[in-house]
Amino acid sequence: MSDWYTTFANSGFGTTITRQLGLPRPAVLRRYEPGQPLLPGPAVVGSAGEGRLRNTVTAVLRDAGVTVQSPVTADGGTDGEKLAAVILDATGLTGPGDLAGAHGFLAPAIKRLRPSGRVLILAEPPSDAGSPAQAAARQAVDGLVRSVAKELLDGSTANAVYVPEGAEDSLAGPLRFFLSGRSAYVDGQLLTLSPADVPTREDDEKPLAGKVAVVTGAARGIGASIAQVMARDGAHVVAVDIPAAGDLLAEVANGIGGTAFQLDITADDAPQRLVEHLRERRAADGRQGVDVVVHNAGITRDKLLVNMDAVRWNSVMAVNLQAQLDITQALLDADVLEDDARIVCVSSQSGIAGNRGQTNYAASKAGVIGMVRAWAPRFAERGATINAVAPGFIVTEMTARMPVGTREIGSRINSLQQGGLPVDVAETIAWLSQPGSAGVNGQTVRVCGQSMLGA
Ligand SMILES: NC(=O)c1ccc[n+]([C@@H]2O[C@H](COP(=O)([O-])OP(=O)(O)OC[C@H]3O[C@@H](n4cnc5c(N)ncnc54)[C@H](O)[C@@H]3O)[C@@H](O)[C@H]2O)c1
Repeated sequence: MSDWYTTFANSGFGTTITRQLGLPRPAVLRRYEPGQPLLPGPAVVGSAGEGRLRNTVTAVLRDAGVTVQSPVTADGGTDGEKLAAVILDATGLTGPGDLAGAHGFLAPAIKRLRPSGRVLILAEPPSDAGSPAQAAARQAVDGLVRSVAKELLDGSTANAVYVPEGAEDSLAGPLRFFLSGRSAYVDGQLLTLSPADVPTREDDEKPLAGKVAVVTGAARGIGASIAQVMARDGAHVVAVDIPAAGDLLAEVANGIGGTAFQLDITADDAPQRLVEHLRERRAADGRQGVDVVVHNAGITRDKLLVNMDAVRWNSVMAVNLQAQLDITQALLDADVLEDDARIVCVSSQSGIAGNRGQTNYAASKAGVIGMVRAWAPRFAERGATINAVAPGFIVTEMTARMPVGTREIGSRINSLQQGGLPVDVAETIAWLSQPGSAGVNGQTVRVCGQSMLGA
C-alpha cells in the first residue's frame, strides 16, 4: 500500500496536472535503505550561546562519514553544496537574548537545505533551568522547532532533542535516527533523553543482531512491517496474531525466517501461553531471553459515545490496553525479559488529539501513553526501556476502511501533506528497540508528519 496521491502527483502526468491546478505536490520522502549513507550530503553544526554538544555531534557525524561544513553566513547563504542537515546546539541558552543566535544560524543554513533535509535542535529541558529567563529561552525552542517544521518544504523535517546534563552519552543513537531516512515521517517532535548506560555502538546494518523480538498483530499492516524491519535489522521475530489470521501470519513469519505464534492476546490464558512459548523456544534453540516486545495489535470499534454498546467499549480496551498491561506484567513476573529489554507500545494520535466516534479507541491509546510513563522508572532500574509510538495517519487496511472524504483529509493535514507508510512506524519502533536507544525511556514518539491534530 502507498499514498496514491503522492505517487500520482510525482508522476509525469500528475506533475503537470497538479501544477496547472495549483494543487499541493507532496514530496517523495527519503526513506532508509540498507547500505545508504546517514546523510546524502554535508551537514552544518552551529550553536546559540555556549553549547556543550557541538563536539559530540561533530564526532558522530564524522564517524558516519558525513562532511561537516562551517556555519553559513547570512550573505553567503546561496553558495556551495546543498546541505543535507542543519544542527543547532542550543544547550547554551541563558535567556531570550541568546535566541537571536539561533535565528542567525538557522536562517541562512535552512535556505541551503536540500529536499528531505533535516533540521535538528538540541537543547536542555526547560524543567531543569536555573532561572525563569533560561526556562523561557529553553521553552522557546519548542515553538521554534514546531514552526520551522511547518515552514520546511520538499519532505524536509525539523525535530528537537532535549539533552539534560549527564545524558550526553544517550545522544548518538537518537541523533543518527533523526538524521537518517528512518525518521522520514517523524516531524515537529520533541524528545527528552535520560542519562543511561549506552552500550558501545552496534552494527549500523544489523543493530538488532542476535536479539529476539516479539511483535503482536504481525499478520498484516503496521505489525507485518515491524516484523520485516526488525528481521532486516537482525532480530529473530516471534510474530503473534489471532488464529483467524493464521495463514497471513505464517506468510509473514516464513518470509523473514521468524516464528509464527497464533494467540488471541485478550484470552485469559494469553500471557501464560506466551510466556510458555517463549520459554520453550529459549530451551529449544539456546537463545537468551526476550530482548524486544512490540505491543502493536489494536482494533477500532467506532461509534459515538452515546450510541456505544459495552461490547464495543470492552473489546477495544481489552486488545489495545489491558492486553499490553497484562502481557508486560506476565513477562516481568516470569523473568523472561532480558535485563536491557526494550518494550514498545503502539498508541495513536487519537490518544493525544481525541477523535469523534472513537472515545473507546482514544481512551485506550491515551492509556498506553500513561502506562509507559508510569513504568519507565522501573524499567530504567534494570537498564531496560519502555516507550510508546503514536502513529498519525498511516496508509493501511485499517485506514482504507474509512469513508473516502475523511481518509483524504486525514492523510493531508500534516506538514508533509501525505499519509505515512507502515514502514515509517516500523523504523521508529526498530530504532527504539536498539541497544543505542537506552537513553530514550517513558517517551511517546509521534510518527505523524507533524499532523495538525493534537499538535
Ligand atoms: N493505521 C493507522 O493509521 C494507525 C494510526 C494510529 C495507530 N494505529 C495503531 O497501529 C496498530 C496497527 O494498526 P494497523 O493499521 O496495522 O491495523 P490492522 O487492523 O491492519 O492490523 C492489526 C493486527 O492486529 C491483530 N489483532 C487484533 N486483535 C488481536 C488480538 N486480540 N490478538 C492478537 N492479534 C490481534 C489483527 O488480526 C491484525 O493483524 C494498532 O494498534 C493501531 O491502533 C494505526
